[in-house]
Amino acid sequence: MPRTLTRRTFMAAAVAMGAFATPAFAQEVVKIGLIQPMTGPSASTGKQAEAGAKLWMQLHGDTVAGKKIQLIVKDDTGAPDVTKRIAQELVVNDKVNVLMGFGLTPLALAVAPIATQAKIPEIVTSAATAIITEQSPFIVRTSFTLPQATVPMAQWAAKNGIKKVVTLVSDYGPGIDAEKAFKEAFSANGGEVVSELRVPLRNPDFAPFLQRVKDAGPDAVFVFVPSGFGSAFMKQFAERGLTQAGIKLIATGDVTDDDLLNEMGDAALGVVNTHHYSASHNSPENKEFVEAFKKANNFRPNFMAVGAYDGMQLVYKALDKTKGNADGQALIDAMKGLSWTSPRGPVQIDPETRDIIQNIYVRKVEKVNGELYNQEFATIEMVKDPVKAAKKK
Ligand code: DHB
Repeated sequence: MPRTLTRRTFMAAAVAMGAFATPAFAQEVVKIGLIQPMTGPSASTGKQAEAGAKLWMQLHGDTVAGKKIQLIVKDDTGAPDVTKRIAQELVVNDKVNVLMGFGLTPLALAVAPIATQAKIPEIVTSAATAIITEQSPFIVRTSFTLPQATVPMAQWAAKNGIKKVVTLVSDYGPGIDAEKAFKEAFSANGGEVVSELRVPLRNPDFAPFLQRVKDAGPDAVFVFVPSGFGSAFMKQFAERGLTQAGIKLIATGDVTDDDLLNEMGDAALGVVNTHHYSASHNSPENKEFVEAFKKANNFRPNFMAVGAYDGMQLVYKALDKTKGNADGQALIDAMKGLSWTSPRGPVQIDPETRDIIQNIYVRKVEKVNGELYNQEFATIEMVKDPVKAAKKK
């Protein structure tokens, strides 16, 4: 006959079996909700980001600090009300520990109040308007900011014989950031912005704007359009004969995006631009990343893929630091100040702003083995978002 099971002996046996330490029975799951435009005009961003996040898990496994990682991918079609609804469902129904993605600025902004309320990290891997990280103490960014990428372009232009510039940007947050950052830095370095043009984000017709650029006759036109729109721009730029009129094209690397660059053809050759990632970045980490990415996807990674890859890397590193504690406040605290070597180069999460500090590279579009690449030729090391850095002064 077995001994009568007293409460004390039951407790002792249960503790010995580890019944109160859940992992011994069912491994705890940390859920990451990745929300991106998988359809619509920014679908290339979603495609790249999903592939980047999945590649991180393929290369680094689906467990970290004893926790199982589950990635849930959702399509918001690029509409902020859809992003918001999906984020709410992921928090309430799926009980995600982290929200990630956000292919356009309005999509990232729509989720900020949800992150604040749910007290879980919102990792912005794509959108790049400077103010985003100020909208919630739970937002952290692995992409970049437009001012961060633009100031080095303005400085390079002023130092390389470009005196008069027309700016041409998509008419929303990141475009306006780029326009302002370019003008300030270019003027401070002796250049003059003679005209500022803003093109609608949706279904842009660049032709009338390019005609105005031509009529103004500047040394160069500085351009920002978001990822996915560069080839439509480049086609119209070539058709308008601006190059033949002696007007150089300078840009942020969003325009000469690695996802579309090969489609752009020779019109893109020689375009000088500044950005934080090129598929041809020369480092062992990037070679490994690009090779594995191409093998898994049959296309080349762009900066949206790297943003998402590093977004996952940030979650894994934070969980390592908290020893598997997936509480939202613990995670965001752990993320502040983390640093690592990304495929783009060295990076750090600014502990004060939760933006990413990273190298910005000056690049020129060149043909390498029959393919177009942004070939880096100068590096500005560990650049902080200049908008927030100026506020601190
Ligand atoms: C944003 C989107 C992009 O595709 C890009 O290249 C830069 C910024 C944005 O909406 O924030």
